[in-house]
Amino acid sequence: MTYWIWLLRIVHIVGGVFWVGGTLMMTFFIGPTIGATAEAGQKFVGHLMNNLKFSNRMSIAAGLTVTAGALLYWHDSAGFTSPWLHSGAGLGFTIGAISAIVGFVFGVMIGRVTTNMAKLGAQFQGPPTPEQMAQMQTLRKQQATYSTIAAVALIIAVTFMAIARYFVL
Ligand code: HEM
Repeated sequence: MTYWIWLLRIVHIVGGVFWVGGTLMMTFFIGPTIGATAEAGQKFVGHLMNNLKFSNRMSIAAGLTVTAGALLYWHDSAGFTSPWLHSGAGLGFTIGAISAIVGFVFGVMIGRVTTNMAKLGAQFQGPPTPEQMAQMQTLRKQQATYSTIAAVALIIAVTFMAIARYFVL
């Protein structure tokens, strides 16, 4: 049993590092750089999404983190029955888990918007038309809003995951 817990914790924490690290990098550095570099930025997004499959790989890391987390939660709460659920630690991990799931949902929405940006960028032949520019602006604004929400939710999730086991009610 212990080895299963080790494995779940490794998958959970390594997946979480990859997922949260990628989301924070995208929100605070890569996204704004794409916005500031016009056509070059569009080529960059195309490569990141189509060749490097950034969105798909982030979804896999997020899915593994949430699945391993859910199994650990199931184990710690003895299938949602033990007093652990109402303890300080149980409450802390629950708040962290809910925030992580909010981050997951917004991550899926970012993936869709970024894929649409890559598709729109691929239609550019030379400088974009005013209509294409307007569409791209709308997508960029959506991406920035969703990214900020996902980043804040994931920072809250990581914070609670880091300290939950020391909570006392
Ligand atoms: C943002 C995503 C997440 C990150 C970065 C993350 C990170 C972590 C870390 C670092 C720990 C170790 C804490 C410790 O040992 O004191 C942990 C434990 C735990 N996490 Fe998460 N977590 C995330 C999402 C989730 C989700 C979605 C769930 C549940 C659905 C969850 C459930 C748990 C549980 C139950 C533990 C305790 C495991 C144990 O007893 O050893 N986590 N998490």
